[in-house]
Amino acid sequence: MIRILVTDGMEKSAIEELKVKGFEVVEQFYEAEDLGEELKEFDVIVVRSATKIRQPIIDKAVGEGRLKLIIRGGVGVDNIDVAYAMENGIHVANTPNASSASVAELALAHMFAVSRFVNISNVAMRQGKWDKKKYVGVEIAGKTLGLVGFGRISKELASKASALGMTVIYTDIIGKAKGYDQYKFFKLNDLLKKSDYVSLHIPFIKEQGATIRREQFDMMKDGAFLINCARGGVVDEEALVEALDSGKLAGAGVDVFVVEPTKNEVLVNHPKVSVTPHIGAATAEAQTRIGSEITSIILDFFK
Ligand SMILES: NC(=O)c1ccc[n+]([C@@H]2O[C@H](COP(=O)([O-])OP(=O)(O)OC[C@H]3O[C@@H](n4cnc5c(N)ncnc54)[C@H](O)[C@@H]3O)[C@@H](O)[C@H]2O)c1
Repeated sequence: MIRILVTDGMEKSAIEELKVKGFEVVEQFYEAEDLGEELKEFDVIVVRSATKIRQPIIDKAVGEGRLKLIIRGGVGVDNIDVAYAMENGIHVANTPNASSASVAELALAHMFAVSRFVNISNVAMRQGKWDKKKYVGVEIAGKTLGLVGFGRISKELASKASALGMTVIYTDIIGKAKGYDQYKFFKLNDLLKKSDYVSLHIPFIKEQGATIRREQFDMMKDGAFLINCARGGVVDEEALVEALDSGKLAGAGVDVFVVEPTKNEVLVNHPKVSVTPHIGAATAEAQTRIGSEITSIILDFFK
């Protein structure tokens, strides 16, 4: 019997479907030091972002075990040593499309929150304050949204933001995207200078470090907003706090952090910041789509 270990949760209906199709599914989270040993007994592991699959775990699971397939339910595979797994004959798959619409909506939620002080008035009202005069915001309609990275999530966000009356521009390391002439392409520096809102939708590559640092904040419009629903590492958090304190930025929406769970209390408690605990893909709809994509990957792999 093919054995599947699910460490970070998976949609119940998808688990049921796999069981009905004859797979054994075990749902159990293991700490890194125990995972390699436990994984020896499984053919497939399904993770989200909490479980890290590094070289020593792969060594155990391959050397003494039967692991063949690692599936990341979600987009970023930065919690898995993908190249090393592949070199060792383990296939690695993810579900890149399932959560794009949900992440795009969360980016919009943060844009609205910081534009209208929804974040801070929630905090203030719970402290008994009625700061009506303090919270004169701005509309997002008529403003320019600059998308950094023009992949799946950005394309979703672009169409939603356009429908809300925003002008959408974008940048991407692979250049202009075919079939999207309604949005103008700019180099990163020009995009930063032109945008009222900058929303990041790029992967984090450790060797490259943060894409948005002091120098990039300096280029942005005074009073611009920054949204990061991509990966914590793409923004220098210290430079972000400085840009908020100096008034360079009017606000920031942050779903992802350099360290998670974050210990950056200055950032989390900043009055100009709207924060969420890495919940970009955490919607019922995305989870259902992720579950069915995982099921298809497993059925295809073992057919
Ligand atoms: N917050 C969440 O819960 C959540 C959920 C899903 C995805 N994400 C993250 O969102 C990001 C985007 O996801 P996606 O599905 O749109 O990815 P994607 O691969 O479809 O698109 C990324 C795009 O960014 C471009 N790119 C890469 N590096 C760049 C750089 N330095 N400058 C400009 N462009 C660059 C690529 O060419 C590509 O077109 C990923 O980091 C992913 O991990 C976060």
